[in-house]
Amino acid sequence: MTPREMKIAAARAALQQVKSGMTLGLGTGSTAEEFVRLVGEALAARALRDIRCTCTSNKTEQQARSLGIPIHALAEIAPLDLAVDGADEIDGKLRLIKGRGGALLREKIVEQASRRFIVIADDSKLVERLGVGVLPVEVTPFARELLQRRFAAMDLAPVLRMQDGAPRVTDEGHQLLDVRIPPNRDIADVVAQIRELAGVVETGFFPREASEAIIAAASGIRTMRR
Ligand code: 5RP
Repeated sequence: MTPREMKIAAARAALQQVKSGMTLGLGTGSTAEEFVRLVGEALAARALRDIRCTCTSNKTEQQARSLGIPIHALAEIAPLDLAVDGADEIDGKLRLIKGRGGALLREKIVEQASRRFIVIADDSKLVERLGVGVLPVEVTPFARELLQRRFAAMDLAPVLRMQDGAPRVTDEGHQLLDVRIPPNRDIADVVAQIRELAGVVETGFFPREASEAIIAAASGIRTMRR
């Protein structure tokens, strides 16, 4: 299976959990995009009806609207029956790192407002220890330079996320500092320290949000449950 086929396989398995009449949170990223496409197809084929959805990013909302998926403000339909989204890293305790697509704040808000959150991913996202790659931290522009210095002093090697030669601006008008968790430090402790600093809006560490993960591998699909 190609990486895209694995994403589609995980998305298809998650679609089986969607029933007519549900309220749904739609994630962001290339795997979530496949899920949104399948939801659109199921609605068009009338295999699903009366779904009400909310989106974790403007990009997903654009895709969902183009497919005729009914979109609502989160507060109108929360609590949600189900959210489905990708992840950048998943550990054995179903803790996640998210946000390398830049949508971590809305993702966390939507996923905390969901009774059930299914992560969809291919097996390249499974890690022994979170922090193989960067941990995205969403910050207010006013505090960004100071936070960048603070994070550097904490040995977190912060890098400002850029796009087209300028700092990447999130859907909520913030900026992103990608930090590295030192191998000898526990991610939960580092995140607790980060969150104490004014100007930090949210981090991409999702310790409790996911209720299950559908992981696609060349050998087939497997489900992890909390
Ligand atoms: C976006 C995210 C994505 O869910 C994460 O980056 C995974 O993306 P992909 O499915 O493209 O690998 O957290 O903020």
